[in-house]
Amino acid sequence: MIQSLFNIDLPLIQAPMAGVQNVELAASVCEAGGLGSLPCAMLSPAQLVEQLDLLTQKTDKPFNLNFFCHTVTDYTSQQKQQWHNMLTPYFAEYEIDPQSLTAGASRQPINQAVVDIIAPYKPAVVSFHFGLPKHAIVAQIKSWGTKVISTATTLDEAIWLSENGADAVIAQGLEAGGHRGHFLSMDLSLQQTTEQLVKRCVEHLSLPIIAAGGIATPDDVKHMKALGASGVQVGSAYLLSKEAKTSALHQQAILEQAQDSTALTTLFSGRAARGIQNRVMLELGTMPEGVPSFPHASSAITALRTCAEKAGQSDFSPLWCGQKYIPRVGVSAADITHILMKKW
Ligand SMILES: Cc1cc2nc3c(=O)[nH]c(=O)nc-3n(C[C@H](O)[C@H](O)[C@H](O)COP(=O)(O)O)c2cc1C
Repeated sequence: MIQSLFNIDLPLIQAPMAGVQNVELAASVCEAGGLGSLPCAMLSPAQLVEQLDLLTQKTDKPFNLNFFCHTVTDYTSQQKQQWHNMLTPYFAEYEIDPQSLTAGASRQPINQAVVDIIAPYKPAVVSFHFGLPKHAIVAQIKSWGTKVISTATTLDEAIWLSENGADAVIAQGLEAGGHRGHFLSMDLSLQQTTEQLVKRCVEHLSLPIIAAGGIATPDDVKHMKALGASGVQVGSAYLLSKEAKTSALHQQAILEQAQDSTALTTLFSGRAARGIQNRVMLELGTMPEGVPSFPHASSAITALRTCAEKAGQSDFSPLWCGQKYIPRVGVSAADITHILMKKW
């Protein structure tokens, strides 16, 4: 039971969604009895403290803090040049001098300084994307009584997480919006649907399995329960909720073309993530050779995104969205939580 594990009423985790939400969404889901999540991977230390103070003012219910734990590799000048060459026509179109680019909003893996910041807040849950951080960090977080969970996209990853300290595993199927949480293998041909992955994980593991990807209706939730999932993690279904901070261009893309027009792409960060196809994905291909490794692809593309968005275009914006989407425009996240859990 993840209800007793996380001390929540409803076995629903609002998926952390960096870039489209802050504490408003998390607090609304917490107050409704689910587990609200704050995505922390793109927050500076000062922003993290500010958001944690706000969150704990808004709710005294348990919450989840989400971090990335990727290994940052070097970004060589040769890789940068290759990437900029691919984007040259776009830089020309927006009159951007690639030499002037500084690193844009990026994603940092968790480190000891961040652990020290969150320690006094004693989150009920800390979730990770891309594996787990080093053992000492996992052990320290667990010493507060905090539960540690992480995403698996294959049975092998789920087994690895269970053997390396996870208290529960988020089984993320192919349908999921945003970044794939894969970390043992980058081979996308290994990826399975949520249904297939949940079934396999439930069959082989004894710790709680939380289903994620393509869950948008009460029947989807009921189906995951029938497969043996202990709960669900839901992202895209909250993208148009009252409390989400999804940009107007992103909202427009979701309303006009989300169904069946998503694809996995590495273009925006260097790692595969699912979003609505836009101009840059259609013109360069979703996974062309030469995109630098995560998260280095983002700085150049963010410069293009900023210019295009000023002109009212989402041609270079990461329009993260899962394969299944039911628009619930302006509905509160609390109401969406209750709707989804109606048949649990
Ligand atoms: C806009 C968006 C941003 C996301 N950002 C994160 C993130 O920061 N951290 C994370 O662990 N997962 C992130 N995800 C993935 C979710 O945790 C989850 O796997 C996914 O939303 C589930 O599929 P669904 O979107 O079909 O509900 C994101 C998903 C979306 C749609």
